[in-house]
Amino acid sequence: MKLSDNKATLSFSNGRPAIELPVYSGNIGPEVIDIRKLYGQTGMFTYDPGFLSTAACQSAITFIDGDKGELLYRGYPIEQLATQCDFMETCHLLLYGNLPGVADKAAFVKNVKYHTMVNEQMQFFLRGFRRDAHPMAIMTGLVGALSAFYHDSTDINNAEHREVAAIRLIAKMPTLVAMAYKYSIGQPFMYPKNDLSYAGNFLHMMFATPCEPYVVNPVIERAIDRIFTLHADHEQNASTSTVRLCGSSGTNPFAAIAAGVACLWGPAHGGANEACLQMLEEIQASGGISKVGEFMNQVKDKNSNVKLMGFGHRVYKNYDPRATLMQETCNEVLEALGLQDDPLFKLAKALEKIALEDDYFVSRKLYPNVDFYSGIVQRAIGIPVKLFTGIFALARTVGWIAQLNEMISDPEYKIGRPRQLFTGSPRRDVMAIAKR
Ligand code: SDX
Repeated sequence: MKLSDNKATLSFSNGRPAIELPVYSGNIGPEVIDIRKLYGQTGMFTYDPGFLSTAACQSAITFIDGDKGELLYRGYPIEQLATQCDFMETCHLLLYGNLPGVADKAAFVKNVKYHTMVNEQMQFFLRGFRRDAHPMAIMTGLVGALSAFYHDSTDINNAEHREVAAIRLIAKMPTLVAMAYKYSIGQPFMYPKNDLSYAGNFLHMMFATPCEPYVVNPVIERAIDRIFTLHADHEQNASTSTVRLCGSSGTNPFAAIAAGVACLWGPAHGGANEACLQMLEEIQASGGISKVGEFMNQVKDKNSNVKLMGFGHRVYKNYDPRATLMQETCNEVLEALGLQDDPLFKLAKALEKIALEDDYFVSRKLYPNVDFYSGIVQRAIGIPVKLFTGIFALARTVGWIAQLNEMISDPEYKIGRPRQLFTGSPRRDVMAIAKR
């Protein structure tokens, strides 16, 4: 970051002396006011619950221009990565800062492939869960449990450990998600197959059985690979900020990523794709497109607490570019599977059209986000609704690791420890229980 010639002066109406705060600029995007000395100079904190106006770190990984609806991974537009590259190239880009050439890609893919198996003991963790346990409960447990198996890569301050842990996590997440799915349907776990692509191997572990050969559908394989790319990273979202804050204590990468899985589960974040599909199914069950008007009135009624899931975003105040690409992927998959008339896809497109013409949404700059169409395409592929967020976690793991490693390698990083505006009781003494 560069010191800007712009300065910020903070003055107070109560006569307290004004102070000058440095302003820094990055390469693109908003400048920042450096408040690190504010408390020392004024005895005051800033106040920004939800961090709407707070840059918690500097980063060179992902940039979003919310007004333009632009998403860049290390400078490359998501539209180009999702159509001209695959997820393994995107992982290399996010982790190391560049798209690999042929030889580097082959070496990276081979390294990932040779870490896809998990320790045989991992299966016994699953046996402790009910068969109907939510996959995100299982994933939160399994990812944290990985730290019990890899003592040779848990020192977050050791660059070699960070590299091995990154590959292990990227490689093993598909295996764990597929194990959670197989466990829920009572089928045997399928081991990874190294002769398949990353996406193809995931489909195989999900849908193959030991009883017969499984052929990967190339259209579905491409769609899943693109879904992974679209979900790979997204600046300092809630789960990435969780991973950074958790990792700032020096805990091992597996524990930090498990914290990210837990945060992503929430319906306001990664859980929105599951909630969005449930919303579409409920509208469909209550009458479909004819009921959309009634549903929209509920959404606009503040007291209903009903939201149009898959719509709106803290940063995008324009169309989420991932939603556009996801809709295209939806079309391709439904076409390939002969499901062009999928009623939920038609319903989603009708909802989107109505919302984008309704002042409630237009005035609040609410547009479809990545979760609006992702559920429809995953459901068409045969992925159960409850597993959608697990797949989001699988894809976001590379982003979480890249962001965690960027933080740890920053010599300026410290353990995160926000302060507060205290509104509770001033000091008071305990009274004997007989007098309370
Ligand atoms: C993801 O941060 C990321 O980058 C996340 C993510 C990533 O890749 O990591 O992009 C992934 O989490 C996408 C978002 C998925 N969540 C949903 O689709 C859930 C539905 N969306 C909303 O909950 C909401 O839009 C948020 C949480 C996404 C953003 O909320 P903000 O930025 O805190 O905005 P807000 O709640 O203050 O909303 C502003 C106004 C409010 O109305 P008013 O109080 O001004 O009258 O817009 C309304 C909100 O009620 N609003 C919605 C709405 N989203 C916002 N009203 C109806 N339906 C919605 N979906």
